[in-house]
Amino acid sequence: MTQAHSDGRDALRAELRWAAIVGAAVALIVVAVVFAGVVLGINPPSNIEHIDPKTLHLSAEFTESNLGTRVDANGQVTVRVVTTQFSFIPSCMVVPAGQPVTLRFASPDVIHGILVTGTNVNTMVVPGYVAQVHTEFTETGDLLMPCQEYCGIGHSQMIATVRVVPAADFIPDAQGKVSCEPLR
Ligand code: CUA
Repeated sequence: MTQAHSDGRDALRAELRWAAIVGAAVALIVVAVVFAGVVLGINPPSNIEHIDPKTLHLSAEFTESNLGTRVDANGQVTVRVVTTQFSFIPSCMVVPAGQPVTLRFASPDVIHGILVTGTNVNTMVVPGYVAQVHTEFTETGDLLMPCQEYCGIGHSQMIATVRVVPAADFIPDAQGKVSCEPLR
């Protein structure tokens, strides 16, 4: 056997060995992902819910009169916010402390992101999808909610306030709405 033949066989063997190692690593990762999703129930934070970014402000859920905090008949608190270059609509939202709250965001233009300082609330808002977060705020006070995804020249001015009030001060009006203005 010539030297060249033996080198070629060694190289092939090494390649197959590395292919097997990579294959095993991929299989391990797939098993870990499936285990986390199915057994532990750990899933991506948002939901897959489509919305047309060109018309979201014209009808249904994200029209202006629907934005902000609303308490449904069953007591569920939902906050709806449009993220747009370069503001949040509304720029202040009221939530009760110690109660489950659902935050829903939609963007008519580009990708924005939100995070609420001092909490683990953090998500991207991608045009075409509703970004949703279920959370519970524990401490009362005003929390800043800046845009955390570079969205253009006014990105650094894009900021909102989440006003966490004691449950006793969280009083919906006749429409079930609660807003920062007028101050209650
Ligand atoms: Cu919106 Cu950055």
